[in-house]
Amino acid sequence: MRVKLHVWRQAGPAAPGSMETYDTPDISEEMSFLEMLDVVNEQLNAEGREPIAFEHDCREGICGSCGMMINGQAHGPQRGTATCQLHMRKFSDGDEIHIEPWRAAAFPVLRDLIVDRTAFDEIVAAGGYITAPTGAASDANLTLVPKEVADAAMDAAACIGCGACVAACPNSAAQLFTSAKVNHLSLLPQGQPERYARVAAMVDTMEEFFGSCTNHGECQEACPKEISIDFIAYMNRDYVKAQFKNRKTVSQG
Ligand code: SF4
Ligand code: FES
Repeated sequence: MRVKLHVWRQAGPAAPGSMETYDTPDISEEMSFLEMLDVVNEQLNAEGREPIAFEHDCREGICGSCGMMINGQAHGPQRGTATCQLHMRKFSDGDEIHIEPWRAAAFPVLRDLIVDRTAFDEIVAAGGYITAPTGAASDANLTLVPKEVADAAMDAAACIGCGACVAACPNSAAQLFTSAKVNHLSLLPQGQPERYARVAAMVDTMEEFFGSCTNHGECQEACPKEISIDFIAYMNRDYVKAQFKNRKTVSQG
């Protein structure tokens, strides 16, 4: 199959960008979207032209680095799928495909399709961890956790930090990402001691960089890990509680 690409090209953070058009050579519908870009880049290299810069690492939906807007949709047309796991069979011969970087003030473009997601790191650095020294791994049944709770924590922990939720949100809000990073800890017993300090610090940091949530729900639709906006409600509940918690009431749940 052959497709026509319209790709955002931008030489650097301060350089003006524009869409450029490329005809692909013959590509297989079995190729992943990134393999298709690899083939286009090989052709650009052979012609002595600058290849398209895009981020990738695992290519198996784990690392979260490969996000891009494909025909106006974060990670493209297949629900619950990161760009690296999208295949060309989702497109048809002769299609025109528009490819752009995430568009959000907190994610400045570094080059072509690569954006700087340092703002996410700042949120995690504000409290997305447990400070207690844990020593060696303890027996799995030492701290009993109901299966439903463990499953919910794992659902939150599935967040790969890709940024699609921010890119899809009309407010460029980061509530889905932040709530995933808050809840994968706060749902578990090990996350309780720092639960309220954590949520306050992470939400306050989030608000320094990102817009506010107005419940559009686009984040949940765009998320390659299908993380539920229920986690935003849990985070907001804990954030309100955190404003009132003190040493006397912190143990009262
Ligand atoms: S919540 Fe989903 S869309 Fe947002 S960063 Fe995590 S995996 Fe990506
Ligand atoms: S390259 Fe790692 S999630 Fe796509």
